[in-house]
Amino acid sequence: MSRLLPKGFRLGASTAAYQIEGAWDADGKGPSIWDRFCQMPGHVAGGDTGDVACDHYHRYAEDLDLAAAAGMDVYRFSIAWTRLFPDGTGAANPAGFDFYDRLVDACLARSIEPWPCFYHWCLPQALEDRGGWANRDSARWYADYASAAAARLADRVETFVLFNEPSVFTTFGYLMGVHAPGRSDAAAFGAAVHNVNRATALGAGAVRAAVPKARVGTVLALNHAVAADADNADDVAAAETATDVLNAAFGDPLFLGHYPAAVQAFVDPHVLPGDLAGLRTPLDFLGINHYTRFRVRADGAGGFRLARTPADVSTTAMGWEIWPEGMTRILEWAKARWGDMPMYVTENGMATGGGENDADRIAFLRAYLAAALDADVDLRGYLVWSLTDNFEWAEGYAKRFGLVEIDYATQARRPRASYHWFAELARTRLLDTP
Ligand code: FCB
Repeated sequence: MSRLLPKGFRLGASTAAYQIEGAWDADGKGPSIWDRFCQMPGHVAGGDTGDVACDHYHRYAEDLDLAAAAGMDVYRFSIAWTRLFPDGTGAANPAGFDFYDRLVDACLARSIEPWPCFYHWCLPQALEDRGGWANRDSARWYADYASAAAARLADRVETFVLFNEPSVFTTFGYLMGVHAPGRSDAAAFGAAVHNVNRATALGAGAVRAAVPKARVGTVLALNHAVAADADNADDVAAAETATDVLNAAFGDPLFLGHYPAAVQAFVDPHVLPGDLAGLRTPLDFLGINHYTRFRVRADGAGGFRLARTPADVSTTAMGWEIWPEGMTRILEWAKARWGDMPMYVTENGMATGGGENDADRIAFLRAYLAAALDADVDLRGYLVWSLTDNFEWAEGYAKRFGLVEIDYATQARRPRASYHWFAELARTRLLDTP
């Protein structure tokens, strides 16, 4: 069966600065928390770092040629804060602004809409040294940086993304210590959650003030959390806690103006009178990154821990369950909870161990896109994670998410079968489903 994509539906890919750019200290860039985290041994599989990554900083034109040849309408990338402001605040670095000018111009020259995201996890190390997201001033630091970045691109860019997956960088970075800055500190986590929510509201206002015609959205990671043992009341309660922490800690304040129950105790000490009223922020769209469902168990202390995926379930190279129906459900969950609004799937894809004949990735993308189209929501587009293989955070380079394979020894780009499948989809606007 084949189905026609809705009129105006946008197809594209997402990337993130630290995962692809490399050139970690080029042209006046300052160090970020990910530079620091990777350069300290023991944090990343294989001792990998993003120092060179895909060398996209120098090879962006070739990468955008690939995006254009695949018929992509949209390219969502992130801006490295430390290229624009090496210390996070204060003096600007003109060469950093120039790079994103070149990147945006290169998108436009290929008729690709550039969607810059201001924050895909690489906080300036200088700001982490001042407490990072746990410092109340971080909301202002962020709003100043984001509005300066937006103002510079305003004559060519319409769509701006405030944050990528705040639940992931706060939980992994401040509570579990497995991502930069590597902290395991419940108080810092609570402060970070509240300050990132404040930053979202303040940042949206600052970007709109700088660029009145801007279309402003943000991106949330939404994956199902289900009880590992559905007959165990503690696991069921743990799944509700996990849903609050992972899926609602940012969407609820943003769209409803309050915190979900399980997050309340973390943020309470950091909420000042008047704060809550300022969190609710009208946005022009919501981006949703969806991959899988996680099974959770009670941790015995009122919280949750991630449980192993059963052996009979099919998974990707990340160990993430493949469950396409979850895509329909998660989009409808977001609409039911936060309201009807324009939505995009801003990330979806699968990791493999490599190789150019990725029939498994084609089957995955086809099934998930079909499930997204099945959802009763105002879905405007679908962006694959990712255009090329890249640095997969704590997993390093071994997990490969690209439509295009990267040979890291030579930096050669090799389009996979899934790339050609995507190009055909973009050309025909027809999704063939089994
Ligand atoms: C998401 C991140 C993205 C990428 C994918 C696999 O959580 O936003 O950077 O690592 O997972």
